[in-house]
Amino acid sequence: MLKPLILVTPSRSIKLMVKLVIKKKIRNFNKVIKVDGDKSLSIRSLLLGSQSFGKSVIYNLPKSGDILSTINGLKKLGVNIILKNNTCLIYGTGLNGFNYKKGISINAGNSGTFARLLLGLLIKSPYEIKILGDKSLSKRDFLRIISPLEKFGAKFKPNRKSKLPLKILGSEFLKPINYLENRGSAQCKSAVILAALNTPGKTIIKAKKSRNHTELFLKYLNLPIKIIAKKNYDLIKVNGEKQIKPFKYVIPGDISSSAFFIILTLLSKKSKLKIEKVNINPSRTGFVKIINKMGANVKFINKKTLYGEPIADIFVESQSSFKPINCPVKLNSNAIDEFLVIFLLASKASGVSVFKQLEELNKKESPRLKLASKILKKMGVKVKLGIGSIRIYGNPNLNIKKKIIINKYSKDHRIFMTSVVAALSLGGEWIIDDMESHTSSFPSFINILRKLGYEL
Ligand code: S3P
Repeated sequence: MLKPLILVTPSRSIKLMVKLVIKKKIRNFNKVIKVDGDKSLSIRSLLLGSQSFGKSVIYNLPKSGDILSTINGLKKLGVNIILKNNTCLIYGTGLNGFNYKKGISINAGNSGTFARLLLGLLIKSPYEIKILGDKSLSKRDFLRIISPLEKFGAKFKPNRKSKLPLKILGSEFLKPINYLENRGSAQCKSAVILAALNTPGKTIIKAKKSRNHTELFLKYLNLPIKIIAKKNYDLIKVNGEKQIKPFKYVIPGDISSSAFFIILTLLSKKSKLKIEKVNINPSRTGFVKIINKMGANVKFINKKTLYGEPIADIFVESQSSFKPINCPVKLNSNAIDEFLVIFLLASKASGVSVFKQLEELNKKESPRLKLASKILKKMGVKVKLGIGSIRIYGNPNLNIKKKIIINKYSKDHRIFMTSVVAALSLGGEWIIDDMESHTSSFPSFINILRKLGYEL
């Protein structure tokens, strides 16, 4: 049942703020679905399309908030982009070819990926460009991007400020750098790779393992990138200033979006689900490895490689019992966006699950580790929260009967969708604020729930 609430903001513009009220579990389903295109690949394809010279075509681009922020930002930088349905024509202006007026500002909205990766492409910008974001993005750390980009020669204002809004001024005299990325952050690694494309000479990156879409995309575009995979890190070498040819790209489904429906299926009764054409890059499938260790049986079928990335259909069935896990920290970075739903599964496991070294989770769109602990407690699950760690005391008979209100969560899309999955699979009466937050990454989320038979 939807409860719409019209809110008049001080600027007199009207915003529709909708609370979602869920009082019933979802009934059993057996369906085939497709989720929206992958957020990471969509942003990378737009940014690289903007750097190519000529018309690139991107298919299956989702019209999510983060992608629209990326398109609007690139348009402000003088890139002509036409988006019709989910096909995007992007008329790239070449490396360092942005063409914009003095004094512009770019609003990255909720998208950390867009804001951070874009900064990598602006290191040669002749005029100051201001980057800002919404309330949640303005609380996130940018020092992690500023430090390496300053080494290339870019300048940031105000000096020593680590949060948005910030201004970047590029340099004509860029130098390639040696960079150590030790957080396991693909955004940091990618910002440096994109900066390296715009810099003469060879940039060398030693990076803790994290999603490697930027590297694979550069390979697909035949750009001079070398990746030497070591056990715990990758050595990446990029030679800059090689012009990029326009390209075609089809965005596969997003495994992070699929994760909500995988967990919904596992925790519901007598249900089956096939999710078609999803990206299954191993640097993104830590989630499936973790839940399969917990006893799930998620399968990848019809595997193929498209545009340099592996894709498959995902098949999952309901299950009645799950094992607890002492989650290997080496999987953290490969499952970083899925921990909220992994915690839901842990709350139904037959024992105590432990997750460690997850400090980065508190640096996302909201402090997710802290909020997950709060929500699990509201659900009646025993939890011990440490600094960067969480112990979840699973209860295989968990069946929520009470009223749960989810508000004040920085409008974090993944908190919203996790709460919906919990409500539909574990019961109780849930009132979840700011329904529109899911559109920043997964606009089809509600329609897919309807397809599965939930009446909304
Ligand atoms: C992303 C990297 C991750 C992830 C984010 C998307 C990317 O962030 O959480 O949703 O596309 O590079 P970090 O690099 O901060 O870990």
